[in-house]
Amino acid sequence: MKFFIDSADVNEVREAVDWGLVDGVTTNPSLIAKTGRPYADVLRELCQTVDGPVSAEVVAREAPLMVEEGQKLARLDSKIVVKCPLTVEGLKATRALCSRAIRVNVTLIFSPLQALAAAKCGAAYVSPFVGRLDDIGQDGFTVVEQIVKIFRNYAFSTEVLVASVRSPNHLLRAAEAGAHVATLPFNVIKQILKHPLTDLGLDNFLADWHKTRQKI
Ligand code: E4P
Repeated sequence: MKFFIDSADVNEVREAVDWGLVDGVTTNPSLIAKTGRPYADVLRELCQTVDGPVSAEVVAREAPLMVEEGQKLARLDSKIVVKCPLTVEGLKATRALCSRAIRVNVTLIFSPLQALAAAKCGAAYVSPFVGRLDDIGQDGFTVVEQIVKIFRNYAFSTEVLVASVRSPNHLLRAAEAGAHVATLPFNVIKQILKHPLTDLGLDNFLADWHKTRQKI
């Protein structure tokens, strides 16, 4: 399973990359806006920091403009994957970008049939947003499981990228469902490594070791 980091903060991406846990990056317009920096600078730096795909989202609503923006984003670096929203215009843009050999991550997916439509249009990734489904009282993982099953049934090469992850439990459920990728905020990456028994066990082992006054 691949872990992407859901962030436009180059410093935290660099730190997570140092931990050996990052296979790619996803951004969105809100995350880029939060940095207060020019989007092209942020995206180029992210591409230099990570050895894997970096998703960058278009901001137009009409397909021809989305295609223009997508091509511009793709020219920034060969690692860029263009994110298009799951709208009719977004799907038209997805087809057009794919026909130009630009990889597309179709975002804002909330149902299995939306994911099926995106896969049929050639998406490299589909991004179901599990946290936002939880927010409205629906189980995002029923949707993820359905997408995984549908893609297997028809041998789609499109990867299921679980997005809007808010907790380690979301990651666990994404892994159990057989999703190819989960994109994780940095705080979730930190949380998955923590266990009080690990800390306690290490303190005890080292205390016993130091009593021996040996060195390795
Ligand atoms: C994914 O690509 C999105 O950027 C992200 O996961 C959205 O997460 P949120 O619902 O926590 O904003």
